[in-house]
Amino acid sequence: MENKDKGIYKYFSNYIFENIGIVYEEKDYYRLESRLLQMCRRFDVENIQALYSMYLQKITGEMHQTVLDIATNNETYFFRDTKPFVALSEDLLPRILKDRPGSGPINIWCGGCSSGQEPYSILMALSERLSASEIERINITATDISSEILTKAKSGTYTNLEIQRGLPITHLVKYFSDNSNESWTVKKEIRDRISFSEFNLLTGTFPRGKYDIIFCRNVIIYQNRENKNKILSSLFESLTPDGNLFLGSGESLIGTDISYLQENLQGSMTFKKKHKQAA
Ligand SMILES: C[S@@+](CC[C@H](N)C(=O)[O-])C[C@H]1O[C@@H](n2cnc3c(N)ncnc32)[C@H](O)[C@@H]1O
Repeated sequence: MENKDKGIYKYFSNYIFENIGIVYEEKDYYRLESRLLQMCRRFDVENIQALYSMYLQKITGEMHQTVLDIATNNETYFFRDTKPFVALSEDLLPRILKDRPGSGPINIWCGGCSSGQEPYSILMALSERLSASEIERINITATDISSEILTKAKSGTYTNLEIQRGLPITHLVKYFSDNSNESWTVKKEIRDRISFSEFNLLTGTFPRGKYDIIFCRNVIIYQNRENKNKILSSLFESLTPDGNLFLGSGESLIGTDISYLQENLQGSMTFKKKHKQAA
């Protein structure tokens, strides 16, 4: 790669790092290239050099959002890793409902929800276990940095291939409508129960002490240590005093500066705030 091209890749990798926190090192430039070429097609520019000139001139809101949409890895599927959904529906939620009888809300946040399979899996798993009045108490907020992927999440429409990735047939029949064109859509009453919105975990203002449960799985894995610390401590601030955080199966808090308690729920690791002992 010529030095002038390296300069271009460095410019875009810095832009991505500053805005999303995802690190593209020099060895990852081939992955960045395919993403930049995608942007060239989207803006109908000839090549990556022309794209770079366009960004140097003026970055519009659309150009900014396109970098966020293109640079993120949106890999996801229904009931990914299975165990967290079992822990949630068979252990954690029944326990919360027992400890907090009444009608108060139970708040769940799915941060980095990608195309929606994760929050829909959460709601389907809970719907299988809880009564209608218990489900009424559950509020699910699902957020992502990419507006493009959120449009798909909100639509709740999935191809046959996406459906085949993790969704039990019983759930397909019960919670989806057949569009008769090789796609399926989550039924409106399920879609309407999830509130989707844009949120950058690196720069957003986190609500304090609000969430009983946070899923933030397979998101921080792409961040450096400093950003991991920043995101995780903000997520812990957003948990209720007794709230639980679920990370991806390959993620942990080891190596971060955060004090936490770890709990194994039905084979799924969850993390809680460690409270300072009263003197
Ligand atoms: C690999 S997907 C994981 C989706 C889902 N949580 C799962 O485990 O299947 C990572 C998601 O995190 C989002 N993401 C990456 N960086 C983010 C950030 N700084 N703020 C919010 N979302 C982010 C991406 O857009 C992507 O949709």
